[in-house]
Amino acid sequence: MPADLPLTLWLTGLSGAGKTTLGRTLSLALNDSGRRCVMLDGDTLRRGLNRDLGFLPHERSENIRRAAEVARLMNDAGLIVIATLISPLRADRAHASSIIGAHRFLEIHVSTPLEVCEAADVKGLYRQARRGELALFTGVSAPYEAPEAPRLAINPMRMGLQPAVRELLALIGDTTP
Ligand SMILES: Nc1ncnc2c1ncn2[C@@H]1O[C@H](COP(=O)(O)OP(=O)(O)OP(=O)(O)O)[C@@H](O)[C@H]1O
Ligand SMILES: [Mg+2]
Repeated sequence: MPADLPLTLWLTGLSGAGKTTLGRTLSLALNDSGRRCVMLDGDTLRRGLNRDLGFLPHERSENIRRAAEVARLMNDAGLIVIATLISPLRADRAHASSIIGAHRFLEIHVSTPLEVCEAADVKGLYRQARRGELALFTGVSAPYEAPEAPRLAINPMRMGLQPAVRELLALIGDTTP
């Protein structure tokens, strides 16, 4: 079994970009090869640990900070962490990197464009946001700051899920001594 450096793969991108789907498929692939990993998903965290938080800027920052603190604990315990959160602001992601440790924080931009996310609108949130029924929605009424120098930018809708997973597995392999 490969001895993985306990990395955090931090998947950032718009709502509907495919972060959760990609993260889940990657975690299955890692588990299949006997590597222990855990997923920290934005929606799951917001239903539990972070259920007191909304979407104001300071609440989004706190959402990310808590996720990063948990990721650090998990990494310290030897687990690979797959964090799938919109995490729209560069400053918040930089803070997450400093909490987790830059040497084990891999920023992955799930770069599906807004038009594609909005056209599918699986959760119906873009439509609500355009109608003005949902304030502070990322990409519509709140900013998304794309990473300037991600370790990887990946569009799983265009390239397909399995090739995207293979790229992430290769990145983990390349980063592990
Ligand atoms: N590679 C792919 N090809 C086709 N459809 C996909 C692919 N990846 C994800 N999808 C579909 O796109 C939709 C959005 O994916 P997903 O829920 O993973 O996005 P997300 O980035 O986690 O969004 P959110 O931030 O709102 O949680 C889902 O319906 C999913 O089934
Ligand atoms: Mg998701």
